[in-house]
Amino acid sequence: MRAHEAGALHADIGHRGPAWLRAPGDVNELVPLLWSSTATKNADGALQIGGVDVRDLVTEHGSPSYVLDEQDFRARARAFRDGFKDFDVYYAGKAFLCTTVVRWVMEEGLRLDVCTGGELAVALRAGAEPERLGFHGNNKSTDELARAVDAGVGRIIVDSFHEIERLAALAAERDATAPVMVRVTAGVEAHTHEYIATAHEDQKFGFSITAGDAFEAVAKVQAEPSLRLLGLHSHIGSQIFDSSGFEVAARRVIALHARVSAELGVEMPELDLGGGFGIAYTTQDDPEDPEQLATELGKIVEHECRAQDVAVPRLSIEPGRAIAGPAMCTVYTVGTVKEVALDAGASRTYVSVDGGMSDNIRTALYDADYSCTLANRRTEAAPTLARVVGKHCEAGDILVKDEFLPADVAPGDLLAVPGTGAYCRSMASNYNHVPRPAVVAVQDGRSRVVVRRETEDDLLALDAGVA
Ligand code: LLP
Repeated sequence: MRAHEAGALHADIGHRGPAWLRAPGDVNELVPLLWSSTATKNADGALQIGGVDVRDLVTEHGSPSYVLDEQDFRARARAFRDGFKDFDVYYAGKAFLCTTVVRWVMEEGLRLDVCTGGELAVALRAGAEPERLGFHGNNKSTDELARAVDAGVGRIIVDSFHEIERLAALAAERDATAPVMVRVTAGVEAHTHEYIATAHEDQKFGFSITAGDAFEAVAKVQAEPSLRLLGLHSHIGSQIFDSSGFEVAARRVIALHARVSAELGVEMPELDLGGGFGIAYTTQDDPEDPEQLATELGKIVEHECRAQDVAVPRLSIEPGRAIAGPAMCTVYTVGTVKEVALDAGASRTYVSVDGGMSDNIRTALYDADYSCTLANRRTEAAPTLARVVGKHCEAGDILVKDEFLPADVAPGDLLAVPGTGAYCRSMASNYNHVPRPAVVAVQDGRSRVVVRRETEDDLLALDAGVA
């Protein structure tokens, strides 16, 4: 579909949009699946989240803003904690992290996965108990490892032989014992409903099971007196809706777990299956609820452990997107509207907003689909197929490739894009020296800035101003 002669972004268009996109019966209505649980349209037709009218939110906090629904975030965290009641649930902070979110995660009884010194600093600043943290990363620096050991992080997931040596040495220097999981590559890569299972793994993460590196890494960790071997860790991909990829990965990982037991005489106490649970960005997506997922994953692991004749270890998972993603939306202000003629008499409405690929790179980077709604008023206008674009100097600066918006959408209107809680603020940039938007948490009619908007002064503060 991407290989259209007119170029990737011109494929599958026309005034009807992609095959999956349906014109709404009422363009004012929200599709509940895509929005955080407190989102509604009020009597004026304005979007309201956490009891806060987004028109007021923009007046108070500016545009664009990320709007974080506290009740929804906490409810999703709890749903994973309760659904996966026999598992430890680590929220993957890479999806979105700030000290407020760390506190929510801890209060809701979850643990936290960080993967850089920066994320670790946020967690510690928020007062997270270090033993509830897991530390990932394929290239943690010596300094990062030292900080993790000194802080007493609950598990460090090692990803290379160099790291094992480095960590063993610095734990020994400190007379400490570092708790370690070994990141393995199971040769399974999963996205949406598809997965690929191969024997070789051409990627930077983990130790290969099939090549024998994973077993060797486990043996090495086990042999180091300053390291305590907790278990294996496998993460197979993102935005997954189907447990078949987990099943293939679990079979391979548990076979290794059993081999370690048989050949090294070590019963590893833990096993992590990673994150990757999908969310609905558009009506194409059909996520499962955590309880269903827990049942499926639990069964898979139990079955494989029985087949390998090993005890079921303590299990953990690491959802990021499925907790943060739907809990946030981004509210933008429309600046210009342009009708662009396409081939065969078709046309497309380009709606430009005051943000773009600097606050959500996912459309440009992954060809991700998003949805959006008019957020400041009710309208009687007919739906028209629109493309929402940003303000950056780049033709690929697209936020929402295709969505039906009311034909009277005009400068000054507010547009809200749901599902922007994961990997949007956390991957935001300052391209074109655009300051990054604020993150505003809403709850019970109250709004609070949890990450303040950047200013041009913030950007200029980094400029050394050398003549
Ligand atoms: N655990 C590990 C070891 C991971 O590498 C990841 C994501 C997660 C957990 C959380 O995965 P989630 O449940 O959020 O799918 N920037 C991309 C996603 C990159 C994910 C990287 N690792 C995106 O915007 O789709």
